[in-house]
Amino acid sequence: MTTHTTEKNLLGRAALVTGGSRGIGAATALRLAREGADVAVTYVNGKEAAEEVVRAVEALGRRAVALRADAADAQEAAGAVTEAVRALGRLDILVNNAGVGLLGPVETLSPADVDRVLAVNVRGVFLTSRAAVAHLPRGGRIITVGTCMTQRVPGPGGTLYAMSKSALVGLTKALARELGERGITANIVHPGPIDTDMNPADGPYGPGQAAMTALGRFGTAEEVAATITHLAGAAYVTGAEFTVDGGHSA
Ligand SMILES: NC(=O)c1ccc[n+]([C@@H]2O[C@H](COP(=O)([O-])OP(=O)(O)OC[C@H]3O[C@@H](n4cnc5c(N)ncnc54)[C@H](OP(=O)(O)O)[C@@H]3O)[C@@H](O)[C@H]2O)c1
Repeated sequence: MTTHTTEKNLLGRAALVTGGSRGIGAATALRLAREGADVAVTYVNGKEAAEEVVRAVEALGRRAVALRADAADAQEAAGAVTEAVRALGRLDILVNNAGVGLLGPVETLSPADVDRVLAVNVRGVFLTSRAAVAHLPRGGRIITVGTCMTQRVPGPGGTLYAMSKSALVGLTKALARELGERGITANIVHPGPIDTDMNPADGPYGPGQAAMTALGRFGTAEEVAATITHLAGAAYVTGAEFTVDGGHSA
């Protein structure tokens, strides 16, 4: 894949990517490293995959560490920041990527489902961001992964998921207002259908989702990672939403 810059804009920076063992998170970790950043990634079950990402980052000449931290656990969500700072010596960039997608008719979603999705997609993001704010220097970046379903819900089944991700838009804008005077930015990236384990392009809903995009195809994790990495280097962009969905919500 080609990069849009040739300079290593992020040299000397340290990043934490939650859910960095697979999919969009793994692609982001590699892309940030290619731009010069050291990277910590969290995972829950994917220890080997996370260690593979670490090796790939190290092969690029950057430092990396894999941390087991369940975003659904309040202590682990915040503890990932402490561990990342301990391993890398600093924290400049937080990418709130870890998330779960639970779709289904509204009557089938139980209170336990609601608690689980909100714990990972909302409370975990809040607590990790809260912990990061204590470490981020001037020039710090918080980049959160939402979904294009916060802008346009294409069909039934998305109540819980869209509700959880919509909370992140409010969090992002409020963080931008609160942290602006410290020179820290907060932005949110909304992917459309991206070919990952969560939403495989060859899955039962793949062709339908692809047909709903203007470009007629799924996106790749690398295409989302490119926008996240751009925001990691952007100084005068904050409180903003970026849709990377091939025109799914056009
Ligand atoms: N793919 C899409 O079409 C799409 C569209 C819109 C938005 N998104 C959003 O993009 C983000 C990444 O999605 P993806 O498609 O790359 O998903 P994915 O391929 O399923 O990967 C999910 C990643 O998150 C980690 N993770 C899951 N639950 C976690 C938890 N409780 N605590 C910490 N890490 C956890 C996984 O770790 P393990 O390997 O250990 O399980 C894995 O690294 C999510 O926030 C998702 O909602 C995806």
